[in-house]
Amino acid sequence: MDKRAIGVFDSGLGGLTAVKELARLLPSESIVYFGDTGRVPYGTKSNETILRYTKGDIEFLKTFDLKAIIVACGTASTIALPQLDGFCEVPMFGVSAPAARAAKKATKNGKIGVIGTPGTIASGGYEKLLLGLDPKLETVSAACPLFVPLAEEGWQDHEIAYLAAKEYLAPICAAGVDTLILGCTHYPLLSGVIRKVMGDSVTLINPGAEAAKELRDWLGYQGLLADEGKDGEVRFFASDCVDSFVTLGSRFLERPLTGCVERVDIEKYTPRG
Ligand code: DGL
Repeated sequence: MDKRAIGVFDSGLGGLTAVKELARLLPSESIVYFGDTGRVPYGTKSNETILRYTKGDIEFLKTFDLKAIIVACGTASTIALPQLDGFCEVPMFGVSAPAARAAKKATKNGKIGVIGTPGTIASGGYEKLLLGLDPKLETVSAACPLFVPLAEEGWQDHEIAYLAAKEYLAPICAAGVDTLILGCTHYPLLSGVIRKVMGDSVTLINPGAEAAKELRDWLGYQGLLADEGKDGEVRFFASDCVDSFVTLGSRFLERPLTGCVERVDIEKYTPRG
């Protein structure tokens, strides 16, 4: 049994979709969440900047006594994490590899769609993961940059979100995929309109939820789960305004965000560019 917390970070609030799943699956685990709200978005930045920011986020989390870290940001997970072998003594888990494994398991026709930020899609990281699992898989991908502000605005069920989804997802629908990876933290919030466009027969994969499941299994296998019976403590940190973090965060968690949010000067932990 291990009381140490699980660290989770994201470019902002979206990683709370992973926290929501972790808290549901593992209510006894304590969590330290960092959202880089001062430097979001990562999805439109250069690979060098994403790597530098990710290193800073990890350095900050390393100041806690953690048993594992989830890189909940799709962009950091796809672009930075593969370059960070040996960077951290705490085991790190991305969201893209668990999502790729879940998609491979779910697909029946071998056609998988991937949507994400411009950075994630341009990196080709998901294709590499999927083809590494099975070279016969067919993939089709699309960047959906407007989904992030739509989710933050709370417009996930708005007509505008539906129109954006129809436009972005047209090539993915045309390719006849039966499985779609929602490769960005914010996209699970738009599941309703995405499902409306894609149809009920397409399986939607939520990377944060898949990472939470794999972490649960890994902690169990390693004997590192916390004692059951008592709810874990969840602490939140952000690099910008904590008031908006509480308001918007509740939307991502789908429950009121309770507990205090502390502000962090993340530049202090970030290597110079
Ligand atoms: N968290 C980012 C991701 O999952 C989305 C927001 C951003 O662009 O930073 O890719």
